[in-house]
Amino acid sequence: STPRDLPMFRDLLGTGEELGMSFSYKVQEQPNGLAQAFVLGADFLNGEPGCLILGDNMFYGQGFSAMLRRAANIEKGACIFGYYVKDPRAYGVVEFDEQGKVISLEEKPAVPKSNYAVPGLYFYDATVTEKAAARGEYEITDLNRLYLEEGTLKVELFGRGFAWLDTGNCDSLLEASNFVATIQNRQGFYVSCIEEIAWRQGWILTEQLLLLGQRLEKTEYGKYLIELAKQS
Ligand code: G1P
Repeated sequence: STPRDLPMFRDLLGTGEELGMSFSYKVQEQPNGLAQAFVLGADFLNGEPGCLILGDNMFYGQGFSAMLRRAANIEKGACIFGYYVKDPRAYGVVEFDEQGKVISLEEKPAVPKSNYAVPGLYFYDATVTEKAAARGEYEITDLNRLYLEEGTLKVELFGRGFAWLDTGNCDSLLEASNFVATIQNRQGFYVSCIEEIAWRQGWILTEQLLLLGQRLEKTEYGKYLIELAKQS
């Protein structure tokens, strides 16, 4: 993250230990492009495959976890996603044939070749560090194009029933907030509640969930965590 924003992420999320996870952080001093994450994070990846998610993208839909697990299993190549939008000009755009084979990838084209935008969620094999470093330019679409040229780029489509939302400006942030509030108020489940996820995955015990809830007990969020712990 940026030198300005990183301390806030660290304050909010910490080391991850309390959630049974491990978080590490790295500053990108200059906005040199998204793919620089793989150069700055080369030691972190340590020659392993990796995933990149952009912090202002929001994903919500049935079957999403299974889709992520499938994508994370790739051993060779890269997996990107496609999502139909009315106007894809502000995004990376993917064009594919009837078999789902990628034909072209363009970044913010004035005349898009398809309506399929590429969300900020990318899975790469172990060659990603070397590919990202090779050119010294860090546009994510260029990195994806290297996989396309190699013939190992896969695109998975999110269907109509899936929500991919942006939160990068005031309007889109408000729309995403309203979307989340609508789902949460209707179901009574929090969307992307990190403590709940850690607990359901078995990374923390019920007692730990309760403690995390008690720390926030004056808030609805804290009460929700306590309720989850007590119901189990
Ligand atoms: C970036 C990527 C673009 C992608 C988008 C998703 O654009 O360059 O390919 O479609 O994220 O949010 P940015 O939003 O940084 O302009």
